[in-house]
Amino acid sequence: MYTIDSISNLRNHLWQAKLDHKTIAFVPTMGNLHEGHLQLIDRALEEVDLVVASIFVNPLQFGPNENFNGYPRTFMADQEKLISRGCHVLFAPSVDEMYPTTNISSTTVKVPHLEQLLCGASRPGHFTGVATVVSKLFGIVQPDVAIFGLKDYQQFLVIKQLTYDLCLPVKIIGAPIARAESGLALSSRNGYLSDEELMQAAQLYVCLSACRVALETGETDLSKLEEQAQCELESAGFRRDYFKICRQDNLQPAEANDKDLVIAAAAYLGKARLIDNVRVTLP
Ligand code: PAJ
Repeated sequence: MYTIDSISNLRNHLWQAKLDHKTIAFVPTMGNLHEGHLQLIDRALEEVDLVVASIFVNPLQFGPNENFNGYPRTFMADQEKLISRGCHVLFAPSVDEMYPTTNISSTTVKVPHLEQLLCGASRPGHFTGVATVVSKLFGIVQPDVAIFGLKDYQQFLVIKQLTYDLCLPVKIIGAPIARAESGLALSSRNGYLSDEELMQAAQLYVCLSACRVALETGETDLSKLEEQAQCELESAGFRRDYFKICRQDNLQPAEANDKDLVIAAAAYLGKARLIDNVRVTLP
């Protein structure tokens, strides 16, 4: 695997692959890689000739009260994991390389109808930061395909929308959520949890799954289901953020006769804010 930290070196490296008509898949990450990230690499390898991953902890997507400096950085271990999974190129730029001169981007990319909902409501500016850095990374790598985890379902929709709106020639693929045996979605943030909290954390998926079963067995009072789940999460030791049954295509609140749904939740446990979701298609 080649590890490259400058935009010009990456472009030179990928130039030959493009001349050889090789197809390129891109897997952007912020590092601290776990099995969920690595399954995106596996998925990418199924699609194309050359897989490029990136590790970049993007300051633009962290709010002023969020711990950008404390985000776990495990670069050497990440590199080993990518090599073991067969990734071809790792792009790992510095903040200065991505945001020269001011450490910020003067051009930003916003997807307004999606970015103020759910996670966007509790993390103002977060999705502008994500949309901006992903647009820049697409411009740098120019992939044919990019793989994103469905764990961050709102992020996935934001990326699909910006790709469509900006006419970027990148096919966006959503990969399934990788979970621990307990059902807990794998996440870099799980590292903030104690052993006891890790066991409690599994309750988030339990509540999402119970809500899915209720919908599948005909419950139509969506607000009741949402409130019930919030109360169950609180009894399990979580602090509330949101638990919402939404339309799968645009994350608007679902109506009783909608069929393609996503139950999306975020809740605080100890030092971590955990997110997860379950998609449901009703007959
Ligand atoms: P990061 O949190 O490192 O996640 C990188 C990718 O891994 C995202 O597409 C995310 O959805 C996926 N992922 C994380 N946990 C997963 C799991 N349990 N199962 C499946 N996929 C999982 O998301 C980001 O970084 C950043 O916002 C980024 C897109 C890189 C822009 O900075």
